[in-house]
Amino acid sequence: MTATATRSSKSSVDFASRAVNVLLGIKPVASFAKHQARSRIIKRAEALGIPWRRQAKQLQERDWKEDLAAVENSDLAYPDYYLNSFHAYEEGNLGWSPATEVEVAAYAVHAKMWDEPRRDGDAYMRQSFTDLVKDHFRNNPHLESPRAIADLGCGVGMSTFALQDIFPDAQLTGIDLSPYFLAVARYNADHSTMNRQKSQPNWVHAAAEATHLPDGSFDLVSTSLMFHELPQSAAIAIIKEARRLLKPGGTFAFMDMNPQCHTFQTIPPFVFTLLKSTEPYLDQYLQLDLVQTLIDAGFGAPTITINTPRHRTAITTIPR
Ligand SMILES: C[S@@+](CC[C@H](N)C(=O)[O-])C[C@H]1O[C@@H](n2cnc3c(N)ncnc32)[C@H](O)[C@@H]1O
Repeated sequence: MTATATRSSKSSVDFASRAVNVLLGIKPVASFAKHQARSRIIKRAEALGIPWRRQAKQLQERDWKEDLAAVENSDLAYPDYYLNSFHAYEEGNLGWSPATEVEVAAYAVHAKMWDEPRRDGDAYMRQSFTDLVKDHFRNNPHLESPRAIADLGCGVGMSTFALQDIFPDAQLTGIDLSPYFLAVARYNADHSTMNRQKSQPNWVHAAAEATHLPDGSFDLVSTSLMFHELPQSAAIAIIKEARRLLKPGGTFAFMDMNPQCHTFQTIPPFVFTLLKSTEPYLDQYLQLDLVQTLIDAGFGAPTITINTPRHRTAITTIPR
């Protein structure tokens, strides 16, 4: 390709991205685009046998007062970045629609990482992560099975219950900024088949960067699928907080999208712009130097494993 041809294809790509940005800046157009995207994902999910509307309706009809009162910290001040719209919900993570749809949405999104959609994609992803965590403890002769585990950004408990499955004797603490998600997590602990251990974790309504939990109180701090929702400043603060929460010899386990995966390496810029309208900090996440951030916070270099076509796991233990 000649330099002129390269320049002209780059400028048409820039033009497409700018055009998408301008269009998304027009509120009715952005709302229409989000509505279309949402209808498409619901249709695709239901075609795979994921009962999106039925499950959401059932949860939305419930009276959540008691669960919300049990988990909500009404003195909490939300960080500004969290008040953004996420995942095509105007209210971001702070509402009943996202809280009652996040489980089915996870099944739908994680079904699509392979050439052929897999209904069990979400379960596969979670197990591939927890297998790595379990192996880390099993293969390291200095480590005992963790007794106290924190799940940062626990959402409605899907990642918390997956950890409880591999460490059934541990006390689990799920921390999240959304009281709506935590209320559904509390309900799921008693009612969902996801919680095979049937015990109720502690649910803490707090920012993962300022949990106010005591220093050195956990053997394992884990986080899954939260970091792509964070600006870099919050990501760095959360890794420091994880270090503070861990006992000497404690382990940090991380799972999120893999910036090096084929999808991100080949995504057309205007599609990325569209994606950014639902994941506002994705570009900051993709540029975060995770290894250096861990080292700067006092962790050793992590072991990094690609655990799905789109995700990576990083695990590191603090030397005693
Ligand atoms: C995509 S969900 C992942 C939930 C769960 N860990 C899982 O694997 O399914 C991201 C979660 O992180 C939470 N979150 C985002 N920023 C946070 C922060 N600074 N502190 C605590 N939770 C946060 C959101 O409310 C949301 O529940």
